[in-house]
Amino acid sequence: MKLIVAVDENWGIGKKGDLLKSIPDDMKFFRETTKRAILVMGYNTLLSFPGSKPLPGRLNIVLADIPELQIPGVVVCNTMDQLLSLLENFCSDDVYVIGGGMMYRQLLPYCDTALITKMRFSGDADTFIPNLDELPEWSVKSESEIMDYEGLKFSFVEYRNSSPNALAFRSFDKDITEVFASKKEIEFNYIDCKGSYRSDLRDLLERYFYPIRDGVAPTDVRFFLMTSTKEEKSSFGQLLYFKRLTASEADFQKLNDRYRDEDDCTGRACPVRVKKSELDEFITFINKAAFEDVTAKFKADKP
Ligand SMILES: NC(=O)c1ccc[n+]([C@@H]2O[C@H](COP(=O)([O-])OP(=O)(O)OC[C@H]3O[C@@H](n4cnc5c(N)ncnc54)[C@H](OP(=O)(O)O)[C@@H]3O)[C@@H](O)[C@H]2O)c1
Repeated sequence: MKLIVAVDENWGIGKKGDLLKSIPDDMKFFRETTKRAILVMGYNTLLSFPGSKPLPGRLNIVLADIPELQIPGVVVCNTMDQLLSLLENFCSDDVYVIGGGMMYRQLLPYCDTALITKMRFSGDADTFIPNLDELPEWSVKSESEIMDYEGLKFSFVEYRNSSPNALAFRSFDKDITEVFASKKEIEFNYIDCKGSYRSDLRDLLERYFYPIRDGVAPTDVRFFLMTSTKEEKSSFGQLLYFKRLTASEADFQKLNDRYRDEDDCTGRACPVRVKKSELDEFITFINKAAFEDVTAKFKADKP
C-alpha cells in the first residue's frame, strides 16, 4: 500500500479542511498515479472534494465513524478493523492512502511507499503527517528535480518503508497457489448468472481491469466468474467490498438493470469461502490455463 500527499516544509498538509496549496503539476501527478486505483481516505478528505463526491474512475473507500452512512459510489467502513480486513482482499500495490492527517497517521505503518510532494514553503497548517526523515524505517528512494509554480518550489520525493506491516498480498510475481496456501481461507464472489449477462459482465470487468492488469485484476475476474458457491443474498455494493472493482457502481447498476428481468440472472453476487483444506479441489476447479496465461503475461510485462 502506498500513501500520496503534498506537504509543506513542516510536513503540514492542510488548513481549515482544505489543502495548503494546489499545484497543477501535483494534481496531474495525483490523477495519473491513482488512475483506476483503490483509494482509501478519511471522511474529512471526502468532504473536502468538490461537491463531497468520490473521485471518478477509482474505487473510493472512506472511513467514517457514522454507522449506516451510505454515500453513492463509495464503500464506507466504520472501523479501522473493518477497513483493514477489507483491504486484505485487494492487491496492496493498487491501494493508495490519500488523506487526511488521521488516515495517514494510522495507516503509515502499513504503507511500503510514500509519494511525497515536498513544497518549499510554510503553509501555517493545522493538520500534519509525521516527518518521514525522522523515522528510521523510512528512507528516500528517489527525488525529482526541483520545479517551480508561480514562485513556489516543489519536488516529488519517493520514500520507502523498510519494514511495513503486512496487510495483503502484493502483485502476483509468483504462482497464485502460494498466495492461497499462506491463508487459511479466502473469500471470493461470483455472480449467480449465466448466458449473455455473464459475458457482458466479463467484458465490462475486463475492460475496467485491463489498465491495471499488472496486478491480480484479470485473475480476479476469472475467479469471480468461475467460482461456485452456495447462494446468499448479496448486492453489487457488497461485491465492491470484496473485489477490487474499479468500474463505477453506475456501470454495474446499468448492467444489472438491463438484465434484471431475465431468467438467466439473479443479479446477486454470492460470496464463497474457500478453506485451505478445500484448496486443492478448488484449484482444479478453476481454469488453470487462463491463470497461467495471465500470470505469464504479468511476468513478461514486468521489468
Ligand atoms: N496535502 C494533501 O495531500 C492532503 C491530502 C488529503 C487531505 N488533506 C487535508 O487533510 C485535512 C483532513 O484531514 P483530517 O485528519 O482532518 O481528516 P481525515 O483523515 O480525512 O478524516 C478524518 C475522519 O475520518 C474518520 N476516521 C478516521 N479514523 C477513523 C477510525 N479509526 N475509525 C472510524 N472513523 C475514522 C473520522 O470520521 P468521523 O467524522 O465520522 O468521525 C474522522 O473524523 C484537510 O485539510 C485536507 O485538505 C491534505
